[in-house]
Amino acid sequence: MIGRLNHVAIAVPDLEVATATYRDTLGAIVSAQIAEPDHGVTVVFVKLPNTKIELLHPLGENSPIAAFLDKNPSGGMHHVCYEVDDIIKARDQMKSEGARVLGDGEPKIGAHGKPVLFLHPKDFCGTLVELEQA
Ligand code: CO
Repeated sequence: MIGRLNHVAIAVPDLEVATATYRDTLGAIVSAQIAEPDHGVTVVFVKLPNTKIELLHPLGENSPIAAFLDKNPSGGMHHVCYEVDDIIKARDQMKSEGARVLGDGEPKIGAHGKPVLFLHPKDFCGTLVELEQA
């Protein structure tokens, strides 16, 4: 059911340092910093030939990644995002398999302007999974 890997998100304590690491050490193409106040993050997109890396840094109060960085002060992989054709169909099928959908279970408009859902890490090998309707 899941399709392409849309992105891997990495929470970082210092966005300038992380951006320089990807741009200078790894030689990747990186975007400018993009503030996404609705999502409580500032993001830098790292463009790879086959997918994207998103460097996430907390923005404002109650950022969803603040607690993660408290537990992982040097940063770490926060979630993976898989594409699906129909997010409602995907959600219902995963729920019928016993997977837990976070929040109220309804898709929200994600960072790319497309519907997204998050799935409980305990149901997916300890990894937070985002589904994005492609
Ligand atoms: Co994401």
